Amino acid sequence: MKLRTGPVGARIIGLGDYRPHRIVTNDEIAQNVATSDEWIRTRVGIARRHFAGEGESLIDMAVAAGGKALAASGLAPEDIDVVIVATCTPPSPIPGVSPTVADRLGVPSPGAFDVNAACAGFCYALSCAADAIRSGSAQRVLVIGAERLTDWVDPLDRGTCILFGDGAGAAVVVGSDTPAIGPVVWGSDGSKREAIMVPSRDTLMSMDGQSVFRWATTKLAPVVRQICEQSGVELSDIDVFVPHQANLRIIDSLVRALGLHHVAVGRDIVDTGNTSSASIPLALSRMLETGEAKSGDLTLALGFGAGLTFAGQLLICP
Ligand SMILES: CC(C)(COP(=O)(O)OP(=O)(O)OC[C@H]1O[C@@H](n2cnc3c(N)ncnc32)[C@H](O)[C@@H]1OP(=O)(O)O)[C@@H](O)C(=O)NCCC(=O)NCCS
Repeated sequence: MKLRTGPVGARIIGLGDYRPHRIVTNDEIAQNVATSDEWIRTRVGIARRHFAGEGESLIDMAVAAGGKALAASGLAPEDIDVVIVATCTPPSPIPGVSPTVADRLGVPSPGAFDVNAACAGFCYALSCAADAIRSGSAQRVLVIGAERLTDWVDPLDRGTCILFGDGAGAAVVVGSDTPAIGPVVWGSDGSKREAIMVPSRDTLMSMDGQSVFRWATTKLAPVVRQICEQSGVELSDIDVFVPHQANLRIIDSLVRALGLHHVAVGRDIVDTGNTSSASIPLALSRMLETGEAKSGDLTLALGFGAGLTFAGQLLICP
């Protein structure tokens, strides 16, 4: 007996983004800690980031981005059968945020679960969505990356408060006759968990910036090569590179190491800061909006962060 499965491929058909209205400049950060606009721009490449307003929850941001992705896809909330929210900053651990986000969007009784793979979360969640569709377990999946990092970052710690912001990005994934989301390459190194962590529920984020920087600039270029190899494409075939927006120096170092000078590179970090699992859909949405990326472009997404987790895959731009 042959069991029925899903279509051979999955593809993104709509993206959505949400950046909170409050823009926080480096000069504003420098009012609280000993730093400067020049130091921050030089060391991490960030000029400004967005902070959620008081009373603006992670769920509000996820709903805003998810609603925009749905509108862009042309689907109705009732068409969605699974909702996945990637986040490492949920307002509370129980329940997960995805059932509430689905309910607020009007998606009737979908499969709903959260993924916490820190800043790699969006790529993990996208892979779950594509695999669920190909196996026949789902037909149309809404994937959201949403973070309210300002809840967990100490505004008086100059090693971290310069980096992070809040926001959400989303993608609608459906079945496809041709593969448009490649296999994920993923991994982690739990022995380095202390490099970025919130040690307990009463504490805020601590980070060993130098070891994160070293790890990202030495271990991730081979992962990018593996992603291409696994999908059977050459690095030179890529049109767009959207790494997690951790730090402009990390992004530029990856571009140099991989010789990706011919490629459109996501540098949303400059205006949005590091928004963890929201950063890849936010950056890709902006690139499509500005024309830096075009529909049909072969895009390599690479998430990485606390854990130390990483995940990446090739995808075709919607
Ligand atoms: C955080 C980061 C910018 C710090 O830069 P660095 O060059 O490693 O800085 P160091 O921690 O070695 O400190 C160098 C000096 O700058 C100072 N410094 C640190 N943060 C500063 C800031 N925001 N403003 C001014 N000075 C700062 C330090 O106190 C230290 O001063 P000292 O030499 O007088 O002791 C850098 O390590 C980094 O980008 N790491 C990667 C972090 C990241 O991307 N995390 C997210 C991953 S998902």
